[in-house]
Amino acid sequence: MKPYFEDDLVTLYHGDALEVTEWLSADVLVTDPPYGISWNGGAGTLKNGKFVRRDSNPIAGDNTLEARERVLLLWADKPGIVFGTWRMPKPEKTQHRLIWHKKGQAPGPTNAPFLSQDEEIYILGKGFVSSSPPMRSVIGTGESRPTEIVRIGHPTPKPVGLMEMLIERCQPEWVVADPFAGSGATLVAARNLGRKVIGVELEEKYCELIANRLSQQVFDFGSLEA
Ligand SMILES: C[S@@+](CC[C@H](N)C(=O)[O-])C[C@H]1O[C@@H](n2cnc3c(N)ncnc32)[C@H](O)[C@@H]1O
Repeated sequence: MKPYFEDDLVTLYHGDALEVTEWLSADVLVTDPPYGISWNGGAGTLKNGKFVRRDSNPIAGDNTLEARERVLLLWADKPGIVFGTWRMPKPEKTQHRLIWHKKGQAPGPTNAPFLSQDEEIYILGKGFVSSSPPMRSVIGTGESRPTEIVRIGHPTPKPVGLMEMLIERCQPEWVVADPFAGSGATLVAARNLGRKVIGVELEEKYCELIANRLSQQVFDFGSLEA
């Protein structure tokens, strides 16, 4: 299949990850799949520094966990780093779980007494890079979600700095796969680190966004607080 975008490190395909098979040749899955929570927010504009929701902006395939589960079935036992929410079942082969502590709001009700500020990151398989001391299981990032949504143009962009932190735990020779590329945070982060990466994205408007992002930005570190 002809890539939508290609350079020395990044290959991006436009299509359904369940039909495009090129990403399966990679060594580690680093992906943020549809969570299965019917997410329908995120589009908006900034007025006087405040986020004003403009309209709904659903994520394709987010009504169920089927897309994630089918991708994980294809991936089998190879290593993976997969985002999710505690509101839905974690992947069956999860070995470890990290918490992404966000500054903004995580998926969940806004009118409840408790506001969700975290998402989960599941570690599957083996072979990740160790360090002394080991990486802590709670990761904080300093990004402002609404600002990033508007700046980047995707409803659920992950911070590039967060993705870099995770990819640094992958062996340097591993090729990274992100079959749910979205705005391309995994692709930008992998390229910033000099890693090879194969992405797939269903929606052409997001492929275009990724191609523009990769063409314009040599380095996009995003924001990350310790
Ligand atoms: C949660 S978003 C990923 C966001 C991404 N991590 C980022 O930083 O922007 C999931 C993406 O997967 C895409 N998607 C959903 N089903 C897909 C499929 N079957 N194949 C490829 N992409 C798919 C959606 O269009 C959406 O952009």
